Amino acid sequence: MKIMLAPMEGVVDSYLRDILTNIGGYDLCVTEFVRVVDHLLPKKVFKRFCVELDTEGKTTAGTPVIVQLLGSNPEAMAINAARAAELGTAGIDLNFGCPAMCVNKRNGGSYLLQEPQRLFDIISAVRAAVDETIPVSAKIRLGFNNTDLALDIARAVEDAGASYVTVHARTKADGYKAPVRWEWLAKINEVLTIPMIANGDINSVDDYRRCVEISGCEHIMIGRGAVARPDLARQIRDFQNGNSNPIMKWDEILVLLIKMSNDMTRDVKTRYIVSRTKQWLAMLKREYPEAIDCFTAIRRMKEYEDVQASLNERLDNLKSS
Ligand SMILES: Cc1cc2nc3c(=O)[nH]c(=O)nc-3n(C[C@H](O)[C@H](O)[C@H](O)COP(=O)(O)O)c2cc1C
Repeated sequence: MKIMLAPMEGVVDSYLRDILTNIGGYDLCVTEFVRVVDHLLPKKVFKRFCVELDTEGKTTAGTPVIVQLLGSNPEAMAINAARAAELGTAGIDLNFGCPAMCVNKRNGGSYLLQEPQRLFDIISAVRAAVDETIPVSAKIRLGFNNTDLALDIARAVEDAGASYVTVHARTKADGYKAPVRWEWLAKINEVLTIPMIANGDINSVDDYRRCVEISGCEHIMIGRGAVARPDLARQIRDFQNGNSNPIMKWDEILVLLIKMSNDMTRDVKTRYIVSRTKQWLAMLKREYPEAIDCFTAIRRMKEYEDVQASLNERLDNLKSS
């Protein structure tokens, strides 16, 4: 069984990858998408999205990181994939799932799900451009407006030579609406010989168990659940292996929040650090009721130092209580 940390633009960057992979449970991470239009991107762009390229393509926990590309021009995707490979990425993932309008207007992301032949052309071009030891994968949804092409899309990915496919079990039109359609993963799995990674709404060990049961998939990718519950991958791994690490408590989460904002001071502007800390707290609210109060306390703060002081004070109070 493989557990992958999902790409999440503006959320899962090198700082969060580092924290989450050090908690444990992950086999692989995927970067936020690198947008490819029609030319070769400078090396520094790849290194910005995948800071880990400077450390043999791995997080400090040793977890490999795969660069994700988004675009519709096969030649441009191929030359950029070759560059990412040369820089040391653990693999190339191609984004055919992004529902954003700005992406779809330029014919990227999930828009391409309407034309399996174009998916095939892009994946084939990328596969041919990088050494065969480097996995090339695609991340898809079940379709654009409906599931009519779901099996054709999956076959196109396999026929183009992809090493595996990750399927977010929704169409573009579904957005992120419930219910997720894990039953479709089983249908797709039936027509494929390459491995499939199940994705969508795996937010707990119980979700994992049900998803595997319904989809028949062995491997999973987790996104929002991983951010809301930083030890989710470890919990799932423990469930699989019969181990039992204690579930992370709120004081441990506070330590992580403080660590992330501290780490960020090395290279980003303080306003951004404040907004990222608020963003993570907002996502943690789903699993940790303590995050609600903590978020309210810092909501109006603009300075990094104020946010740090507030988080540290809460931590100190917890320690002394
Ligand atoms: C804020 C946000 C940003 C995302 N960015 C990307 C991205 O850059 N590339 C991608 O393939 N998917 C992206 N996704 C989709 C996720 O990788 C994942 O497929 C989706 O959230 C469903 O999985 P989950 O229920 O485990 O979160 C993003 C999702 C969210 C919520």
